[in-house]
This record gives sequence, structure tokens and C-alpha cells, in this order.
Amino acid sequence: LNNNFSTTTPNNNSIQNITVYGSGLMGAGIVQVAAQNGFKVTMVDIEQAFIEKGKKIIDASLSRIAKKQFKDDENSQKSFIETTWSNIKTETNSEKGAENTDLIIEAIVENLETKQNLFKKLDKISKPNTIFASNTSSLPISEISKITERQDKFAGLHFFNPVPQMKLVEIIKNDQTSEDTYQKLVDVTKRMKKTPVTCKDTPGFIVNRLLVPYLMEAVRLAERGEATTEDIDTAMKLGAGMPMGPFELSDFVGLDTLKSIVDGWRKDGKIDAGLVAPIKKLDDLVKEGKLGRKSGAGFYTY
Ligand code: 3HC
Repeated sequence: LNNNFSTTTPNNNSIQNITVYGSGLMGAGIVQVAAQNGFKVTMVDIEQAFIEKGKKIIDASLSRIAKKQFKDDENSQKSFIETTWSNIKTETNSEKGAENTDLIIEAIVENLETKQNLFKKLDKISKPNTIFASNTSSLPISEISKITERQDKFAGLHFFNPVPQMKLVEIIKNDQTSEDTYQKLVDVTKRMKKTPVTCKDTPGFIVNRLLVPYLMEAVRLAERGEATTEDIDTAMKLGAGMPMGPFELSDFVGLDTLKSIVDGWRKDGKIDAGLVAPIKKLDDLVKEGKLGRKSGAGFYTY
């Protein structure tokens, strides 16, 4: 990939160039959706091997969408995939990735210090009007943004897995996020064909604040021996219309991710203690490296 994007931004002041830090499942998904919808996107990660993994994720998802959208028309499938790739370039130099970009979306590891270090560095070298956004699911936006001198141009932009399929994006405003920044993020989200909702900078925002306690309650229900994992999943799919049962979904999201969300909330002390009480089963699985689908086993074996 060696795309040379124009460095001139049209004078309508709207966002054209996006840089995504992190080429994991979320980062790659965000890159793909942005590129599919005409943004020029740079995917940044610290090692070429991670970039290659991200490219594989995008490839698999694009061919799935192409087949669905263009059925037996192989030429259109090919052209859709090629056009999307022509909007993507990759970079392992994090400073270079920030050059001439209008929006930075960070989707790296869920660690406050690591995120702060990245943004601190990017704050010094990015254009003054570049907007910074974090895809964090568990850290307060204000804690990440306070390291920068552009807190007015900082917000949360929270996507859901699988990014190409899930229609929602949560936009997290903290006290300092300007109206202009917020409106630009609403615009970007809609141009990515997603539906934005707005939430204050509170633990879990909207979706995870409701979803994670529900998932944890399911684990407690099974742990008490009141129903089997399989029956709880069947019950929530057939009785409550969920696309996946809570154990399938936990394995899909990643048990390490869930554990880090709950542990973070417990430390934070803002959420009712009963909702975030430690769960032995979850802690044990994570300790054993059974992190869900991505590691081949979690509540189920894959
Ligand atoms: N790329 C593109 N399309 C994809 C895709 C991907 N990676 N994954 C699934 N799809 C599409 C399929 O092509 C299919 O499209 P169609 O309905 O138009 O034909 C559709 O999704 C359904 O896929 P499948 O038929 O293969 O499988 P399912 O019907 O089992 O759906 C699912 C898969 C979309 C993952 C569905 O089970 C689902 O919605 N599960 C719940 C996901 C969820 O709750 N995600 C949020 C997790 S919380 C989170 O992310 C927040 C974080 O901070 C923790």
C-alpha cells in the first residue's frame, strides 16, 4: 500500500483525512468503514506484523460485504474492494501518521498511560485544528484528554464490534469538548453511515453501562448453578430477541476486555458495588488465557 493522499483539505472545513491508531479488531473496522465511505484513511500501528493482521481483518470483511452487495457481479465486487483499498494507507511511524490529518481516532490498548503518552506526543506534532478522539470503552475521556492542550478538540468516539455491521457510534462529550468539535464528529459518523448518540463522560457510556452488568449477571446466574450456560444463551436469544446469548456475546467481546471494564469500574467506585463485584469464574478464565473467541476458548470452545 503506497497511496499518496492529497494534503489539501477542501475549504469547506469538514473532515476528509482520518488517521486511526491501532489495527486490531476495532481499529481495522473503523479504518474499513471510513474508507468504504470515501474518507482518506491512514492505519497506524507500531509493527508491520500488526498492520498485516489488520489488513487481513479488513480483507475478510470487505469480501463478505462485496459478495452480499453485488451478488454474482464479480466486476462490481472487485471494484468496490479496490476503491476501498485505494482510500487506505498504512504507517508504522506514529508521528508521520498524524501529518495533515483532520481527525485522529485512537483504538490502541485499553491502558490510560499508554493512551496519554500517544496523545501527548501527537498533540505536539498535529495541526492545531486536528480533532482527537478515543474509542475507549472503559476509560474516562477527560482523563485521557487532560494530557493535551486541545481538550476542546477532544471527544470519545465509541464504535461497536463488529464495526462494519453495528450501526451505532457513541459520541462522548466531556466538559471541555466544543460544539464545533461535537458537530464535526456527528457529521463524520453520519458520513460513515452510522447513527450517533450522545453521552456524558460517565462509566460505560450508554451501551456498556447497561450491557456489561447484564453479562455479569448471566455469569453469576450460571455460577450459582441456577441454569446452564447453554440454556441462559438460548433463553435470551429466544425469549428476549438478543442476536447472541450473554455467554456467546462475552466470548465475542473478549473476557479480558470485560474483566478490565468491571475491574476499572470497581476501582472507580462510581457504580453500585454489587454490579461490579468480582466473579471467580471470569477471573479464572482470564487467568487461564481463555479470553473468548479470539483465543479459541472462553465460556465455549471454538
Ligand atoms: N464485516 C461485515 N459484515 C459482517 C461482519 C463483519 N465483520 N460480521 C457480521 N457481518 C454481517 C453479515 O454479513 C450479515 O449481514 P446480512 O444480515 O446483511 O446478511 C450480518 O452481519 C449477520 O451476520 P451472520 O449472518 O454471519 O451472523 P449472525 O446473524 O450471527 O450475526 C452478528 C452476527 C452481527 C455479530 C450478531 O450476532 C450480533 O449483532 N451480535 C451482537 C453483537 C454486539 O452486541 N456487539 C456489541 C458488543 S459491545 C461492544 O462492542 C462494545 C465494546 O466497547 C466492548
